[in-house]
Amino acid sequence: MANIYIPYGTVEGQTAQIAEYMAELIRSHGHQAETADLKHAGDTLPAGYDGVIVAASVHMGNHEAYVTDFVQKNRSELERLPSALVSVSMSAHGDQENAEGYVEKFKDQTGWRPSHVGLFAGALLYTHYGFIKKHVMKKITRDKGSQDTDTTRDYVYTEWDGVRRFTEDFLAGLATLQAQEQA
Ligand SMILES: Cc1cc2nc3c(=O)[nH]c(=O)nc-3n(C[C@H](O)[C@H](O)[C@H](O)COP(=O)(O)O)c2cc1C
Repeated sequence: MANIYIPYGTVEGQTAQIAEYMAELIRSHGHQAETADLKHAGDTLPAGYDGVIVAASVHMGNHEAYVTDFVQKNRSELERLPSALVSVSMSAHGDQENAEGYVEKFKDQTGWRPSHVGLFAGALLYTHYGFIKKHVMKKITRDKGSQDTDTTRDYVYTEWDGVRRFTEDFLAGLATLQAQEQA
């Protein structure tokens, strides 16, 4: 049985949902998993975990600064343990190159080169946004040629099957490593 830590950053909550989904899935495979909202959890990586999945979302071209700080501070531990990065953005919904660019920037900022990277589409949560954010996001969406501009509803683009496959691949990699260590 493995014990996985899933620290995350989120602004509107979609990355929190993805982190909780991954944790539930890991538990359903008979392992342990704990999520931590890094805005409140501080920047220490607790001891005792067998693997770490860091998740963060993109706003104005950057992942949360407190996630960047966490990764910078714990880089050597993230390099020692099996670890992965999950990046949540709108670009991951159809603009892969841009989505990859955010991850490259994050790698440059932190110096961390995660061996597993998941790029997942987030959500347009119009009903959660304040007045200005709602109209800015509607304009950006319209300018991109998308029809998803009804601000009385939310649009969730996250492909949960992709999140499931990514998490199960990570677990499979971890199992292989643990088997090699025991051999
Ligand atoms: C104010 C704002 C700025 C955003 N900027 C970007 C951006 O620069 N690039 C991008 O791909 N997505 C951008 N997004 C989309 C978010 O990444 C997406 O909504 C994601 O689901 C947010 O995750 P969270 O709810 O965990 O914070 C932006 C969203 C908002 C509300």
